[in-house]
Amino acid sequence: MAFNEKIFQSVLSEFEATPEMLREVATNFRKDLQMGLRNPDNSSLRMLKSYVGLPSGNEKGEFLALDFGGTNVRVSRIKLKGSGEFEIVRRVGEPLIVPGEYDYIGKDSTAEQMFDFLAKLIDDAIEGDHDTKFYLGHTFSFPSTQDDLNNARLIIWTKEFATPGVEGEVVNDLLNAALKRRGINNVEPVAVINDTVAVLLSAAYKNAGIYIGSIYATGHNTCYLEPSVHDEKCFGQGGMILNLESGGFMKLTPNRFDMEFDRKSEKPGEQRLEKMASGRYMGELLGMAVAELTGENGKDYGFTSIDMSMMIFDETPNLEKASDIIAKKIGKQLELDDVKKIRELASAIVIRSARLITCSFVGIIWQRAGEGEIEKQHIAIDGSVYEKMPLVKENIAKALAELLGADAAKVDTILDNGGSGLGAAIAAAMAVVDK
Ligand code: BGC
Repeated sequence: MAFNEKIFQSVLSEFEATPEMLREVATNFRKDLQMGLRNPDNSSLRMLKSYVGLPSGNEKGEFLALDFGGTNVRVSRIKLKGSGEFEIVRRVGEPLIVPGEYDYIGKDSTAEQMFDFLAKLIDDAIEGDHDTKFYLGHTFSFPSTQDDLNNARLIIWTKEFATPGVEGEVVNDLLNAALKRRGINNVEPVAVINDTVAVLLSAAYKNAGIYIGSIYATGHNTCYLEPSVHDEKCFGQGGMILNLESGGFMKLTPNRFDMEFDRKSEKPGEQRLEKMASGRYMGELLGMAVAELTGENGKDYGFTSIDMSMMIFDETPNLEKASDIIAKKIGKQLELDDVKKIRELASAIVIRSARLITCSFVGIIWQRAGEGEIEKQHIAIDGSVYEKMPLVKENIAKALAELLGADAAKVDTILDNGGSGLGAAIAAAMAVVDK
């Protein structure tokens, strides 16, 4: 079979993010930020208060860090040594779902099962010590409203999580109840933060010039330090970090694949930017686009972002690796020319994702700069897509240059690997120092 060239070009063009589109999306993002600062109800950005600003870098002591936000949950004991130094004393982790064995994120699971699983992991991290006092920082990576640093109420699940009984609840109440059920009375949760906030805290603990933190992985979201927001319950310096829940940014135009996927997703009408850009969805978009080329519309081939990354990495003349991956997914071997086309589509989806995400960064940079100069800064990012997906870093840099011109020299992105855990420990330290 050889794919129809006209259909291929039309599918490919759906994923193009032109320079004009970039400028429009970045401008709309900035406008949404401005409206959100006045009243979040008028913005597609949730602008959630975190009740933390920047750490001093001198936070010290040993803290427990619970990192809960994807299919893998991790609990660490982290010793903060000040001057940006830290040591991971112990780390344990387990997935929330093992197909065929258990599933704590599906519709048939319960909140108790989910939080009992977290309590079991915490018990493992403290090695069954039910006497020593531990303060716990909790990175909970879903949209939540807070009215102080330690109470976060889940607004809505994202990333296709569907466990009943958690939406609308205060997550550390559920966690505390599970700790008690397990006989753990010596672990006290003192801070809940989003993973973007964790990345910002973690990067700012180690470096100066960090005001934006982002996750570019299964899910996507960005937070930033807003100097004009103050609250007496806020810990740290420089204003307050706002969790934008930018994955929910709506003021950008979805293509027909985005719209089709949205209709069949767990939460139709929500998380437009995330569904167009994050790792959880890239493979789905590729699958739908490929099905149009093979004439098997509607078929779910099960491509993942990891498949895409391996296909793009394959630069051998005959694209054998890419060919094999595709053959396994679609059930037949394709001609080299068609394999090239699918690889090109995968690249286009990744490039669009990197470009759209950059628009949100630039919207924030413009907003922070106001009428003044853009500051020299690093944007801290964690997540497998940023870390491992080919084409991402260079396309973020390229889009920054397109949007910021000469000012792009002042801005770069840095990987903050493991920031979700370290940030939770830092938030816990910030909370107890002033206790
Ligand atoms: C969640 C965010 C989170 C992001 C990255 C999104 O689905 O809504 O709260 O920061 O994923 O984990």
